[in-house]
Amino acid sequence: MHNVTLIKGDGIGPSIMDVAVKIIDASGVKINWEEADAGMAAYDKYGTAIPDQTLISIDKNRVAFKGPLTTPVGKGFRSINVALRQKYDLYANIRPARSWKGAQSKFEDIDIIVIRENTEGLYMGLEHYLTKEKDVAESLAVITRKGSERIVDYAFKYARDNGRKKVTLCHKANILKYTSGLFLDVGREVAARYPEIEFDEKIIDATCMHLVMDPHQFDVIVTTNMFGDILSDLTAGLVGGLGLIPGANIGEDTALFEAVHGSAPDIAGKNLANPAAVIMAGVMMLQYLGERDAANRIQAALEKVVNAGDNVTPDLNPSSRAGTIEMGEAIIAEL
Ligand code: NAI
Ligand code: MG
Repeated sequence: MHNVTLIKGDGIGPSIMDVAVKIIDASGVKINWEEADAGMAAYDKYGTAIPDQTLISIDKNRVAFKGPLTTPVGKGFRSINVALRQKYDLYANIRPARSWKGAQSKFEDIDIIVIRENTEGLYMGLEHYLTKEKDVAESLAVITRKGSERIVDYAFKYARDNGRKKVTLCHKANILKYTSGLFLDVGREVAARYPEIEFDEKIIDATCMHLVMDPHQFDVIVTTNMFGDILSDLTAGLVGGLGLIPGANIGEDTALFEAVHGSAPDIAGKNLANPAAVIMAGVMMLQYLGERDAANRIQAALEKVVNAGDNVTPDLNPSSRAGTIEMGEAIIAEL
């Protein structure tokens, strides 16, 4: 029996999380789901976006399965996602982008893993105005040797353990000589410890062009926080969009699994949300928990349904009549 904190989230969150939980339960894995609130759902109930009970639950279970949370744009609200990643030091964010036969996209056979540093860089919340008039603002990026070392090392270990051939480190050290420069220097040191894996270094803007023109040259990409955020949406676009990209947030002793997409308020409550990304996040969670067999079976059932294309949400097949619920039922039938 595994204990997992379940945060259903906002917008489309509850509908897709319900489907994912049903599928995981149907696989036969025994999970004790401990439901907890976060995001707008929690704010409305408790006046805080991360209630203490939720943190106590994650502290205890050390594994969380989370739906998307709405972060209001503007001042006063810090992203709860960023706060959770920092609180539990979930330094590695793994975002795989793989082509699906059943998804509409411009490329085939893409298989790129973006490994994003998840706790430092421009996302530390070190932002403020420098003048009383609020007409000059400053944002600080912090890069450390320790933070760079552990994320690049994670990427190389990931490559080694998953039969990958190459790690590309993306940076902007030509301009950001200290911050991105430190990341690159440390990255080169780490790469030297893994002679069996090819190491490539690329400047971030050129990487964007190469990804669009010739994505097949990429295997594992490792990069700093903001570049990783942007690149993983780009790689999502290469394989048909955000509906198919899971994300694992991994720390030393805690892990949180979610989709890369947000709460999609434009389609919430309409049975239109594609549950595939959170189902794949569930697959990554089962792998983390050592439940490889169930993970493989769920992945295979999902692939069958997506590739068949008739019981999928309209983002995957605009002529399909199925919605979130029907797609979930089809996957369970396959299982
Ligand atoms: P979004 O990812 O929610 O939506 C972008 C577009 O993709 C929308 O057109 C939406 O309908 C579509 N989409 C997203 N997920 C889909 C799915 N599963 N199936 C079908 N279509 C899907 O990004 P947006 O609109 O920028 O953000 C909305 C809210 O989500 C914001 O409050 C944002 O802060 C939050 N957010 C939360 C994240 C998280 O909790 N990890 C990640 C990204 C955004
Ligand atoms: Mg993002």
